[in-house]
Amino acid sequence: MEKDSILIIFGASGDLAKRKLIPAFTNLLKNGLIGKNTKILGVGRTYISDEDFRDLADYDRKDDTFFYQQLDTEDPLSYMKLRDRLSVLDSGSEKKSSYIFYLAVPPLMYSKIIEGLCHVSLNISDTDGKNGYRRIVIEKPFGSSLETAVSLNSKLHEGFSEEQIFRIDHYLGKETVQNILAFRFSNGIFEPLWNRNYISYVEITAAESIGIEKRGRYYERSGALRDMVQNHLLQLTAIAAMEPPSLFNADSMRSETLKVFQALRPYKEDEIPLNVIKGQYSESVIRGEKVKGYREEDNVSSESRTETFAALRVFIDNWRWGGVPFYLRTGKMLPSRVSEIVIHFKPTPNQIFSGHSSKCTCENILILRIQPDEGVLMTLGMKKPGGGFEIQEMEMDFKYSDISDTALPDAYERLLYDIVQGDQTLFTRADGVEECWKFIDPVINYWEKNQQAHLFSYPAGTWGPEAAEDLIKDTGSGWRHPCKNLTETGMYCEL
Ligand code: BG6
Repeated sequence: MEKDSILIIFGASGDLAKRKLIPAFTNLLKNGLIGKNTKILGVGRTYISDEDFRDLADYDRKDDTFFYQQLDTEDPLSYMKLRDRLSVLDSGSEKKSSYIFYLAVPPLMYSKIIEGLCHVSLNISDTDGKNGYRRIVIEKPFGSSLETAVSLNSKLHEGFSEEQIFRIDHYLGKETVQNILAFRFSNGIFEPLWNRNYISYVEITAAESIGIEKRGRYYERSGALRDMVQNHLLQLTAIAAMEPPSLFNADSMRSETLKVFQALRPYKEDEIPLNVIKGQYSESVIRGEKVKGYREEDNVSSESRTETFAALRVFIDNWRWGGVPFYLRTGKMLPSRVSEIVIHFKPTPNQIFSGHSSKCTCENILILRIQPDEGVLMTLGMKKPGGGFEIQEMEMDFKYSDISDTALPDAYERLLYDIVQGDQTLFTRADGVEECWKFIDPVINYWEKNQQAHLFSYPAGTWGPEAAEDLIKDTGSGWRHPCKNLTETGMYCEL
């Protein structure tokens, strides 16, 4: 039986806590997925009373569940007070609760908090069965370069073992991302085809129709490469490309994804402009409404060279994928919000129907749709009924909502549940994160060194710069222009 836990949220009055963490935890409690004695202690620099903090939660037992503690992350005394408060929350129970420290704060504060917790021994997990476990959760971005990620890992390892550390990549918490594992590893028919002999290329898209919203200050330092590619897109690449693990557990899974990251072909400097396209949205009119360009957004420099769009051609140098390009693309202010992986299979070696006015390209496509309209779609060439032998492309689609009536849980709900259970399968490991930075760093450095490096602008509401189309043209077709509905494509989709 799991011990009761206390979730200590640093940055409790922040956006992430309000929008994601508190609702996710409340749902887990309401659904009885975690012990009903679980408590949440919000901490932050601002003073908030327990009562005011409780206003953030929609839960009938909130007086016994939600608490708040003011804490100055720079002040060692604050951590003693935190330890004392935790003891008070624990009093009455025979055994001490387990503590989960969730760092929902800007990365600059991680170091001080880790030191503060260790200083008062709040990092020490159960040794004699009396105390619970101690876990620490680190939000993305995990570092901003290889160097900073390595130093954050060593800081963490000074006080916490790898088993205590949960690095969040919320894409891994998405049901549909986990379903890719189920799709690949619970169906025998795809595995024999899942390689360079049958697949000509793979497209991975995470498109967003929103801009940077109120995050100008963060985004200026981050850009699409750090914000989306180094983590979410590379994780999706690994899930699509990994070898089947022999066991479904945290270590086997993460060892297999690590091998994919290690096999990413590093770019030589002169290859970067040919393989990585950097874009930034400019002002435009979308459905009759004028929208700002990136440089006009709040807290963004009027000369900013930060990319809001990135497209990459990536190769995985191993036996399974040798020579198969993976095209990765992400951007803000694109025509629709869609994340998907598209597997393009090779055409038949001899196209016997081509002389029969066929419209079919005879290339099968498999779309693994992550969001929205979650599902899987496969295209097949079929004979058009009637005389002659015309082949037309048909779609076989499956909607994730057909599996059950239950709404898909938010990614954070799944991840928080796993943290309480101590299951690290869906969390990145130190070596994996570092390997991803090792791949991305040269691109960032190249862009920093070559300020004149091409930054292509694209009008907000379009599918990114023309140069991104050129990147993929060797395949003989362009990028897909996916719409909200899995079965639709189009340059401009209905939102
Ligand atoms: C976050 C990025 O990690 O992912 C955001 O920081 C982005 O910029 C978000 O909007 C996208 O997540 P989702 O779940 O909406 O695809």
